[in-house]
Amino acid sequence: MSSASFLGVPLGLISLVTLTVQNSALTIVLHYSRISVPADRMYNAAAAVLLNELLKGSISLAIAFRNAVLATSDPRSGDYARLATDDDLDGRRRGVPGGGGSDLGRAKYAGAKMLREVFSGDCWKLSIPACLYVIQNNLQFVAASNLDVPTFQVTYNLKILTTALFSVVLLRRRLSAKKWFALLFLAAGVGVVQLQSSAATGSSSSHGSHEMDKAKGLLAVFCACMTSGLAGVYFEMVLKGSKADLWIRNVQLSFFSLVPAMCAVFAPGFSLVGGPAKPDPMAGQPVFANFGAWAWGVVLIQVFGGLITALVIRYSDNIMKGFATSLAIVLSFCAGIVLFDFHVTASFLVGTCMVVASTYLYNSPDAATRRGGAEGPLP
Ligand code: C5P
Repeated sequence: MSSASFLGVPLGLISLVTLTVQNSALTIVLHYSRISVPADRMYNAAAAVLLNELLKGSISLAIAFRNAVLATSDPRSGDYARLATDDDLDGRRRGVPGGGGSDLGRAKYAGAKMLREVFSGDCWKLSIPACLYVIQNNLQFVAASNLDVPTFQVTYNLKILTTALFSVVLLRRRLSAKKWFALLFLAAGVGVVQLQSSAATGSSSSHGSHEMDKAKGLLAVFCACMTSGLAGVYFEMVLKGSKADLWIRNVQLSFFSLVPAMCAVFAPGFSLVGGPAKPDPMAGQPVFANFGAWAWGVVLIQVFGGLITALVIRYSDNIMKGFATSLAIVLSFCAGIVLFDFHVTASFLVGTCMVVASTYLYNSPDAATRRGGAEGPLP
């Protein structure tokens, strides 16, 4: 994990814990937003994904701009000296230190510098995870519309395995048989815990008049797990393979997401993702029709989640993200026992033991390492 910290707590840990809370909130709000209204008053899921990218991109742009301005305001930076006004130069000639230019001058300079970085030569690399994330984000809506909460949560754990698979292939991370076993055990353990927690919190699987197509939901979850693993690892590879700033990379990611996200909204007949079942009862309605509080809730939680995910990938890695969210699912259920009187069953205890044991197993050194051999990610 990276050594950056806030108030003495490692940023990797803070972002991992925050992500867990966000994940739980999103599952519930997303599902409720899709099944609580009749199909003819449903909001457009593809429009929600587009809005998500626009908001995330704007926030990342604002942070990148602020960082650029701060960098040019640092008297030790070359940019600061370059931005000296005539007064500053005059002063310097008379021996008075000066530089940095005016606020407006600095802002203009920082903005131009930031845009040059955003559209630098390797920016196209972000187009790959951008398309994959747009597909994943749309598929999530299909899955949540066609599966009950426990089934969705349990099957979505396959992400842990697809992420490990792509980490091995793309990042050349070496995983021993023991680590693979730990990952399998983790995915199964989280599944057992989530089944129990859904029963305890009363997450219902009856959906009134809303029609669900389980096969479609399961196919959507499977594809979302593949795209999630590939996109996350690809983003990690690009981020850690260059010196570019995280927020610049995020702006590039959102920029390249706009085209596929707009295709999903405006391309007629784009029915695999996003839209409700045929015949489309929303045909002819404005793109942002029926965008009520629940839809906005989904978008805002997704925006927040996207920003936190980027931090997690930057300060930790994709596989650890899977472990931390799994452990935190257990911890949040434990909090529920205290706060909301959840009941502990044998399956919760079994699932918890599986999650804890797999985390221990994954993080314990392999036999080869104990004997002094190399282990873990390759440089
Ligand atoms: O389920 P998973 O953890 O793969 O979801 C990652 C989410 O984070 C996606 O919705 C993706 O759009 C978002 N993300 C982001 N910015 C990044 C990385 C991921 O918005 N840099």
